[in-house]
Amino acid sequence: MQPVEIKKDIHWVGAVDWDIRDFHGYSTPKGTTYNAFLIMDEKIALVDTVKKPFLDDLVRNIQKLTSLKKIDYIIVNHVEMDHSGSLPVLIDMIQPEKVICSSMGKKALIEHFHRPDWPYEVVETGQTISLGKKSVQFIEVRMLHWPDSMVTYVPEDQLLLSSDGFGQHWATCERFDDQVDINELLPHAAKYYANILLLYSPLVQKLLANVQKLGLKIDMIAPDHGLIWRSHPDKILGAYDQWSKQVAKNKAVVIYDTMWHSTETMAQSVADGLMEEGLSVKLFNMKVNHRSDVMTELLDSKAVILGSPTLNNGILPSMADIICYMKGLKPANKVAAAFGSYGWSGEAVKIMTEALHEMKFNVVEPGARIQFAPNADSLKGCYELGRKVGMAAKEIVS
Ligand code: FEO
Repeated sequence: MQPVEIKKDIHWVGAVDWDIRDFHGYSTPKGTTYNAFLIMDEKIALVDTVKKPFLDDLVRNIQKLTSLKKIDYIIVNHVEMDHSGSLPVLIDMIQPEKVICSSMGKKALIEHFHRPDWPYEVVETGQTISLGKKSVQFIEVRMLHWPDSMVTYVPEDQLLLSSDGFGQHWATCERFDDQVDINELLPHAAKYYANILLLYSPLVQKLLANVQKLGLKIDMIAPDHGLIWRSHPDKILGAYDQWSKQVAKNKAVVIYDTMWHSTETMAQSVADGLMEEGLSVKLFNMKVNHRSDVMTELLDSKAVILGSPTLNNGILPSMADIICYMKGLKPANKVAAAFGSYGWSGEAVKIMTEALHEMKFNVVEPGARIQFAPNADSLKGCYELGRKVGMAAKEIVS
């Protein structure tokens, strides 16, 4: 991809990864991009780099604009390898005057690359460095997405170079939000939030408050993944406010796996009960759905119901997978319940109920258990469980 001028004298010089399909457990069926930006001024600054295999793309793009040796500063907003993997080679090639990063960034760079000799310049929130006509201001955003994370603001252009925040994993030849369908873009951003940032929601709220406190006017948000928010920064800021407050709609997700279709039949009756209470329901059979798509749907759902038959005194492995993943991402403010069939011991519902309590959900108990195969009578219990969850979900004020 060619460099693209995103603001006068500020250029996208990153790379598009059309092929990546898994991002540490998050499915990326449409690839991603690694965005890097070159600010051309009296001092030339490169903001972020790319994953190591894409170094040549970055170098080619920079060389269309200037020679590598003319770059004065490299700003490292985030040390994770998708943004700094090519840094050691690049620093050798550029020999920059400064490698600008947060204090945690310096620590992480040394721990990753074992190069304490690089010309680090540690910056703090609110600190500004002049490049000539333009300047760069820094805001530390610890844990969005790593302890080292910060964002860079260019006040003269009201441009926020936002690192992982506001990103999407979507490989496109377009660079801006107004060049694609916003109704396709926002779900990519929601999936990114649900699978990368959800557990840091309180910190997202803090970041949004900091932006207000510092009086930053934002005309454009350029994240390190996906499309740049040129025409709709307000839309993504509003969405982040809602997602980080975990505002939910009248939606429910029923997540299950099944051995001989008994638990699947129960899932359908639970869903009928939820629908009876006016909730929009999605069923996710974990044999055919990816955990990251389930999390995306869960992001703004009021209710989550888990189903598994008992296998070897436990639950099915696919359910253990989604429960482990969900726990880590810390969704909040949900009504929940569990159900499942069993043959003789029947521990699955208890195990899932405990997991739901651990996630601090409002758990409707008892869950529904059916021995071997359901019949019309036993399915009424599942339907009623769905209704009870639906009634409790309607009490959640969003
Ligand atoms: Fe895109 Fe946290 O790295």
